[in-house]
Amino acid sequence: ISFNSARFMVSAPRLEDCPPDTGAEVAFAGRSNAGKSSALNAITANSKLARTSKTPGRTRLINFFSLNRENARLVDLPGYGYAKVSRDMKDDWQKHLGHYLNDRRCLRGLVLVMDIRHPLTDFDQMMVEWCEHNKLPLMILATKADKLKFGQAKNSMLDIARRLENFTCVQHLLMFSSTSKRGVDECRAALIDWLEA
Ligand code: GTP
Ligand code: MG
Repeated sequence: ISFNSARFMVSAPRLEDCPPDTGAEVAFAGRSNAGKSSALNAITANSKLARTSKTPGRTRLINFFSLNRENARLVDLPGYGYAKVSRDMKDDWQKHLGHYLNDRRCLRGLVLVMDIRHPLTDFDQMMVEWCEHNKLPLMILATKADKLKFGQAKNSMLDIARRLENFTCVQHLLMFSSTSKRGVDECRAALIDWLEA
């Protein structure tokens, strides 16, 4: 699998609009503004692939990207915890996200993207517990590491590792930065592992 040839496929507002549930998929989840779309762009070395924004709530649909290997895809999920939308819209997102996570058979693993300065929010914790319960492999990207001094970033990683030590679903915990590209190679290797299994 080469990530450089990733292409945008489709934006799905609902589960019914997703590509056929075959092959292998890895989805990127996390708080709004955590850096999911930026991480996808760093991994695919294509800054124009997934839309990023300073305004939280940019990614509102489930976006699918195809890779060069047939039926292998990466998925950019809408961020959770975005406060500035109406209650109804929020419920809607969570419902669609829930449907996707619960029903998608081809989902091989979840990449949970969190800002290294604000790790493991309540919602992140819920996602970890959901993966544990559903036996779905989890990779954690502690991103925006370039915003901290290395010592501080290291401490944050130790703190995250300690809080997650009892979760067997956590297969990878990476210090990451879409800006400096730290962690990108390790992340690619882990994704290949999941998608080719
Ligand atoms: P939603 O689609 O709203 O859920 O957000 P998202 O998680 O996709 O975040 P996005 O990738 O759009 O990034 C949000 C903001 O953080 C943008 O201004 C990015 O430029 C910035 N950002 C993302 N990753 C990094 C990083 O590794 N380092 C730094 N310094 N900034 C980053
Ligand atoms: Mg996004």
